[in-house]
Amino acid sequence: MHIDVISAVPELLESPFSHSILKRAVDSELLSIRVVDLREYGIGKHKQIDDYQYGGGAGMVMMAEPLAAAIRELQSEGDYDEVIYLTPDGTTLTQGIANQLSLKGRLLMLCGHYKGIDQRIRDMFVTMEISIGDYVLSGGELAAAVLVDAIGRIIPGAIGDGTSALEDSHQDGLLAPPVFTRPVEFEGHVVPDVLLSGNHKKITDWRTDQAEERTRDRRPDMLD
Ligand code: 6GU
Repeated sequence: MHIDVISAVPELLESPFSHSILKRAVDSELLSIRVVDLREYGIGKHKQIDDYQYGGGAGMVMMAEPLAAAIRELQSEGDYDEVIYLTPDGTTLTQGIANQLSLKGRLLMLCGHYKGIDQRIRDMFVTMEISIGDYVLSGGELAAAVLVDAIGRIIPGAIGDGTSALEDSHQDGLLAPPVFTRPVEFEGHVVPDVLLSGNHKKITDWRTDQAEERTRDRRPDMLD
């Protein structure tokens, strides 16, 4: 899987992919990520990338020409399966969307800033618009980092033990059950006996019960 990210603030994306599971996916060549600085495609001496919006109103809009130039240059290296614009008015990201995207070969992500990008870029190039939740961020970079992480960690082979991605919260439509590690007693709080029993059937049943109870309690909407 290869992911290109076009950003006006590429510095924001320096660290997130350099640790833990994402780093392992990158190191083992399951995943490659390139952050492209939109400024390099800016217009004129000042490498301009944004301008006032037609019709008036506060806030700048990212211009069509630099974005189109960047997208076209990258597309000339190979077609993308999806061109994704990260925007608060997009479809809310779910585990299902991340799962589908993890099966693709090449993705392009566009990070907006200010008031967003010129609508014509959305009409001409974008194939998916994704939001990471009902709140507003100052730019799409942190959302792109979230999306790359959600996708990258489930690429087959990215997680060490090969199965645990399927046991995450949301992966089976339930929240994950509680987990414990050593010691058995911590400041008077003990690990549930069943987890120490060695009885795998009982342990699996307990985890399922706990997952269902947690989901009923915290996210009854997920059970509808
Ligand atoms: Cl994708 N972008 C911005 N700017 N804000 C958001 C978002 C994206 N998703 C939720 N809030």
